[in-house]
Amino acid sequence: MMLIKNGIITNDDRQFKSDVLIENGKVKEIGLNLQVPVDTEIIDAEGSLLIPGGIDPHTHFQLPFMGTVAVDDFDIGTKASIAGGTTFIIDFVIPTKGQSLIAAYDQWRKWADEKVNCDYSLHVAITWWSEQVSKEMEILVKERGVNSFKVFMAYKNSFMINDEEMYQVFKRCKELGALAQVHAENGDLVHEGQKKVLEMGITGPEGHELSRPEECEAEATNRAITIANRVNTPVYIVHVMSKGAAEVIVKHKKEGKKVYGEPIAAGLGVDGTHMWNKDWRHAAAYVMGPPIRPDPQTKEILMDYLASGDLSCVGTDNCTFCADQKAMGKDDFTKIPNGVNGVEDRMSIVWDKGVNTGKLTPCEFVRATSTAAAKIFNVYPQKGRIDVGSDADIVIWDPKKTKTISKETHHHACDFNIFEGMNVTGIAVTTIVKGKVVWSNNTLSTVKGSGKFVPRLPFGSVFDGITQRDQVRNELLRKVEREPYTGKVFQPETK
Ligand code: URP
Ligand code: ZN
Ligand code: ZN
Ligand code: ZN
Repeated sequence: MMLIKNGIITNDDRQFKSDVLIENGKVKEIGLNLQVPVDTEIIDAEGSLLIPGGIDPHTHFQLPFMGTVAVDDFDIGTKASIAGGTTFIIDFVIPTKGQSLIAAYDQWRKWADEKVNCDYSLHVAITWWSEQVSKEMEILVKERGVNSFKVFMAYKNSFMINDEEMYQVFKRCKELGALAQVHAENGDLVHEGQKKVLEMGITGPEGHELSRPEECEAEATNRAITIANRVNTPVYIVHVMSKGAAEVIVKHKKEGKKVYGEPIAAGLGVDGTHMWNKDWRHAAAYVMGPPIRPDPQTKEILMDYLASGDLSCVGTDNCTFCADQKAMGKDDFTKIPNGVNGVEDRMSIVWDKGVNTGKLTPCEFVRATSTAAAKIFNVYPQKGRIDVGSDADIVIWDPKKTKTISKETHHHACDFNIFEGMNVTGIAVTTIVKGKVVWSNNTLSTVKGSGKFVPRLPFGSVFDGITQRDQVRNELLRKVEREPYTGKVFQPETK
């Protein structure tokens, strides 16, 4: 057994001083003056908060992508997560066009199960459409613990699907009770923009943003939400990177549509002016899609929307590449592998830029970094809460402790950190995964492969009210009873 004493439990709904007793990886009791056996391991959390372990709903560990493989694998990636206070990640299975979803899922499970240092789960991307895909989606939901599927509106000629296919995927998601997720950028416009910018002789990393400005993201976001609304199924927009896209989400939310938006650590912590840096290597390190926007106000605006609840939960899109991998695009920005770090620094970035600025309360911080994701992806209250019966994934969070983010000290495998030199106040001093201390005194004591896959059930709370909406909407779809037309009918000439 383990007893964490003198901390302030901070869930998304309240804060209170309490001790936490842990047994067999679960929270057994909470309260003051708990009776415990003599051999109980005692941890003193005086002066700190006890928060539910962070949940990063968007990672790409060891993703094969753009001709290479992301360097943070499931071992390194989950170690970096833990060092930053994140104890549960949801990664993306991305089958290639024509590949069986189940085969891809099995491949990701094998990669992850052997290496994860904390629990994890998997979304699956739908990169092509057919009867087989439709059937495999059902198997994934009913037998393999998947309740979310992502489509790409960008990456023309690889992952991108068209509107009709998206409609079919969303319909299937709705039937199965799975959440539709979207990478929202207009892939045709991106493709044309890339050609135009290259023709102008702009081959450096700045060409990345210049070829796919905000409106490409905002338009696709609007289209995705519209298609989901035609189907009447909830939709989750991953990596919301621009003011324009965030405003589209807010507008639709105000109209009552079931939409969730995910800002990421990169979008909240830095701006995209780095892509104009004179040092190619530095500039290329910031290339990800959709681009981190050059307007320095964007990160403030995204944080404001997170605070208001218009954006729901913070991911990272952690997909890291070293300089030599990025250099595949040294003469052509379209060949720079897209992706940045984030999983280690996410929690501190959100605390520092959100709570320390007075935009978020500590409870809202917990909502944004853990609880909202647990609810949306239906693992709550197993994850995302400190309560009796919940998994003992707990972080001792020191709101006053400071650190300077650097590639010299981070736990990622990449040789660059997009937050380099940033001083953040508010850090994870101790991370407990399923009742075991795996990070304390700046030292990891993780066990590779000890994390477990967490199956997620369909028809989570994001589906609340959908059936009722269907009934109300269908009542409006009424035919007009009228006499049959009896006049002349034009006969088109046939050759
Ligand atoms: O640049 C990015 N975002 N890389 C990872 C793949 C994706 O689009 O999420
Ligand atoms: Zn994406
Ligand atoms: Zn072309
Ligand atoms: Zn991603």
